[in-house]
Amino acid sequence: MTAEPAPFDHEDTNTDDRPSRFKKSISGGFSVTEKVAQYDAWANKYDEDMRSYGYTGPEIAVEYMKRYFKDTNGKYLDCGAGTGPLGVHNVKSTITFFSRILDTYDGLLCCGCFVPSHLEPDCVEDWCRIVKPGGIVFIVMNQRWLSQEPAYNEGKLDGAFQKRVDEGKWELVVREQRDKYLTENVAEVFVFKVK
Ligand SMILES: C[S@@+](CC[C@H](N)C(=O)[O-])C[C@H]1O[C@@H](n2cnc3c(N)ncnc32)[C@H](O)[C@@H]1O
Repeated sequence: MTAEPAPFDHEDTNTDDRPSRFKKSISGGFSVTEKVAQYDAWANKYDEDMRSYGYTGPEIAVEYMKRYFKDTNGKYLDCGAGTGPLGVHNVKSTITFFSRILDTYDGLLCCGCFVPSHLEPDCVEDWCRIVKPGGIVFIVMNQRWLSQEPAYNEGKLDGAFQKRVDEGKWELVVREQRDKYLTENVAEVFVFKVK
């Protein structure tokens, strides 16, 4: 069975401007300032657009947060938080995200940010520096980008994770897939423990 195309694969129409916002966000050739401006301009429609496309990243991430971010006094970083959907989905739980920048964290998650023209694989070097030993790092991402995005494919991204495991800095806790992440796309979830 062929997977349902993601929103960015759909044709733009005059009546639906969601695909163009989506495509713009994952297109290259923009400076950091321009990318920030794009997200600023999209912010008031981002959650609505993503919900309409069946994006389940935040729900998946909340499930893993509840499983792995156990310390109610812990300081956790939502890397690439965007409009903060995780905080919203998690509002009834005791997990607190820090909006201030701290030197170190008890755990870090990154949801939906390994997409074209976003994070580079070498950001894991910073994560190694800022997450304390014993802390959990987890990533939720669209599986398609592991093979289709040139910045990540052929092991550039999962290889960057594996390098930390080979160096003895991280331990792989679990790597699993979840369906219906974005239309019929599959989510790849990596969970690591920092040694
Ligand atoms: C597709 S959104 C995902 C937002 C949110 N995590 C979610 O699941 O809805 C990607 C986010 O990554 C952020 N981002 C892009 N490049 C980044 C970078 N180099 N460092 C930190 N955040 C970045 C953008 O500002 C944007 O909020």
